[in-house]
Amino acid sequence: MSFIVAIDGPAAAGKGTISRAVAEHFGLAHLDTGLLYRAVGARVLAGGDPVAVARALDPVDLENDNLRTPAVAQAASEVAVISDVRSALVDFQRGFARRAGGAVLDGRDIGTVICPDADAKLFITASPECRAARRHKELAEKGIEATFETVLADVMARDTRDSDRATAPLVAAADAVQIDTSDLSVDAAIARAVAVVEAAHRRKR
Ligand code: DC
Repeated sequence: MSFIVAIDGPAAAGKGTISRAVAEHFGLAHLDTGLLYRAVGARVLAGGDPVAVARALDPVDLENDNLRTPAVAQAASEVAVISDVRSALVDFQRGFARRAGGAVLDGRDIGTVICPDADAKLFITASPECRAARRHKELAEKGIEATFETVLADVMARDTRDSDRATAPLVAAADAVQIDTSDLSVDAAIARAVAVVEAAHRRKR
């Protein structure tokens, strides 16, 4: 049975953790679509042309260990504004979504553009301060040094760029269920997301 779950939201709202947990709970494949933009961003930082790099992107590029740095995140957000970059990445995402057995895709425009007919749609948010605190902790755990203020400024700059762009801006689909994780534990946020997806799964059976 094909079953598609679309999970969108701003940086560090918890959509990665929630997506992985939902995928595992329902036995679905998972694609973090931010990695596609990060892989393009990383190659552009190394001197590549954004559109040419996006058109030639190989799934192996998503396994690069350096995709999680703040510099690559900003570069990803910058290349994501270019509509030819976005179109070059559409087929890969839709192909992944349609795989037998179903899939969870997380990103910014999954419920609105990539999979508007998804069976379940979630929009995960949290306050900028809360998201910056989480990202700051994650970076510290990886040994990447940055002040809280810099991380907050990066998060807010990315929010603005992702939300204000003309093509596929970050916005909740009208039929998405919103979950604000600011005051939720990881387990509570996952439980809410699983409950929403479970209801959609029951409707489909
Ligand atoms: O989810 P992330 O933080 O890894 O995403 C990095 C950047 O990629 C994000 O700032 C905007 C862009 N992106 C996008 O435009 N559309 C997506 N579906 C996923 C990510």
